[in-house]
Amino acid sequence: VNGTKVEVLGREYTGDHMTNVTPHLLSHIGRDLHLQPHHPLRHVAQRVTQHMYRQYLSPRGNPLFSVHSQLHPVVTTHQNFDSLLIPKDHVSRKKSDNFYINETHLLRAHTSAHQSELISMGFDNFLVIGDVYRRDDIDASHYPVFHQLEGVRLCTLKELYGTHQNMDAYHLFENGERTEDHQGVHSAEAARRMEAELKGCLLGLATSLFGQDTEVRWVDAYFPFTHPSWELEVQINGEWVELLGCGIMEQEILANAGVQDKIGWAFGLGLERWAMKLYGIPDIRLFWSTDSGFLSQFRFDDPATPVTYKAVSKYNPCINDISFWLPKDQQYESADFYDLVRSVGGSLVEQVNLVDSFTHPKKQLTSHCYRIVYRHMERVLTQEEVNDVHRKIEQEAASSLQVSIRI
Ligand code: PHE
Repeated sequence: VNGTKVEVLGREYTGDHMTNVTPHLLSHIGRDLHLQPHHPLRHVAQRVTQHMYRQYLSPRGNPLFSVHSQLHPVVTTHQNFDSLLIPKDHVSRKKSDNFYINETHLLRAHTSAHQSELISMGFDNFLVIGDVYRRDDIDASHYPVFHQLEGVRLCTLKELYGTHQNMDAYHLFENGERTEDHQGVHSAEAARRMEAELKGCLLGLATSLFGQDTEVRWVDAYFPFTHPSWELEVQINGEWVELLGCGIMEQEILANAGVQDKIGWAFGLGLERWAMKLYGIPDIRLFWSTDSGFLSQFRFDDPATPVTYKAVSKYNPCINDISFWLPKDQQYESADFYDLVRSVGGSLVEQVNLVDSFTHPKKQLTSHCYRIVYRHMERVLTQEEVNDVHRKIEQEAASSLQVSIRI
């Protein structure tokens, strides 16, 4: 491994005794599931982003938060650990738990790795969305690559208190003792206000996605980069599920990034966990599926569309196309054809999509071609029985939608 070149998204690194990334793992990089149109992870990321946009507006009514969703996944050990005050001997640095590129670089283990660089750049309110990497067993709820969304908000005294008559009475900082409730440098009152704002924001987020009646609870937690720290749990089907970690940012992180006059909060959540609970997706490996049976269930534009995932058949799909001229002087809507296909094909039809449309200049006629994917949930489909259903669909379309089938 010593001296071998490791290339990740156009950047080249030299391997050493710490290198433990495999070609198989590296093949996941660049898939960017969180950026793929209609992917369930993107729907969830968009809903969280929308919540934050609505919650925090500038005086002119624009969203305050910036979104960083294309940051390079290779970070330095300084970014992933030191900048977050994670001790040199902390267990989370272990080679057996991380994917190291070499001694100084690794695939980020959490989106928190970008906190301090973005703060140094001057961002006060931001989200980081991205793929994160941890060595772990693979099972229904663990996969070495998953996706996180991080939120950070820094506030000045004025932002936290608004403008009061006597601003001298309020202050963010004091020289006190660190207690369970606040850091020594924070005034108890400022820390309390930040906690209330953070918890209010995240409770609103959880209930807007999981429902207003969702049971929620805060659990005390520990992170080296926040104090105090909490986890938010919600009850889903009688089971308490941890949804996120959060806390008041250690002031030392802000100071190291050149910020003197602000107090901050941060949270981090796993998009897969949220999507699995929200859509009832039973296995984390499904997010990597390129099968239309999985992806087509999320093919909607409004990310808040309610869906419950239905298991995809492990049996073979059969794909047949159908082309026809649309009726000349009559109303035709693709939706009518979709309804027709569903009623004739029933549960054999997994999906229907318009794959081609063109207008013949002389005839002044429009032709549509649809691709129908047939698949049975419990058994192998034969091409003959599919042809049978397909022919019925052609006949029914010709008679009830007045289209003329092209052969
Ligand atoms: N980075 C933490 C994790 O991966 C989550 C977190 C983010 C906690 C921000 C607190 C503040 O578990």
